[in-house]
Amino acid sequence: MGIIVANWKMNGNPDFADNFIEEINAADSENTVVVCPPAPLLGRFRNFRYDVGAQNCFCEEKGAFTGENSPRLLREIGCKYVIVGHSERRSIFHETDDLIFKKHLAVVAENMIPIVCIGENAENRDNREKVISDQLSFFLNNPGSTDKTPCFAYEPVWGIGTGLIPSPEEIETIFAFIRNLLGDKVSLLYGGSVNAKNSSEILSRKNVDGLLIGGASLKADEFKKIIEEKSF
Ligand code: 13P
Repeated sequence: MGIIVANWKMNGNPDFADNFIEEINAADSENTVVVCPPAPLLGRFRNFRYDVGAQNCFCEEKGAFTGENSPRLLREIGCKYVIVGHSERRSIFHETDDLIFKKHLAVVAENMIPIVCIGENAENRDNREKVISDQLSFFLNNPGSTDKTPCFAYEPVWGIGTGLIPSPEEIETIFAFIRNLLGDKVSLLYGGSVNAKNSSEILSRKNVDGLLIGGASLKADEFKKIIEEKSF
């Protein structure tokens, strides 16, 4: 069974969330299902039968950090997961590897599961192992930091929202490389242009434990099909 995570990004509204929840509550999934809506919609998920996560948080518990979300508060309102260091956070909001590592620690301190995102952009496709190693440097230099079995999501930036997916062999090579760096305790997710047609194939690849899904998670019927897949 896999871990299937929906990242709605900055999409959706209260009516959309209510309809989505109704449709997905009717799904029968043996997978671990996590939905990460925009933070203002988290409260609508009180009667959701699967897990809920946040798309981001700050690395401090509370204080004068206007506009940020506290990991403690996210846990208190029911989040079990937090996406950390998504490529959009890295590129648009200039998040650094150092900050991302601190956020990971803050999420773990609240007994939630961080989903730490890594992945190269198009120019670095041939240099991806170096990019990934650099993005993971704080984790690799702090042995024990991954003991609480976090998730890591490999999302090639060139594959997000483009319909482009690495070949099956490429996925296995990348995931073997990441597995070798991070070990057996962590869960490794693939993200980037996943849909109901390719989800099962991607999840069947060695070392792929789950999926992080953007666009296709905004179509409840398609997301339902993905999470109901039994052959993972
Ligand atoms: P898409 O599934 O829309 O390509 O987005 C992937 C992603 O960024 C999920 O975090």
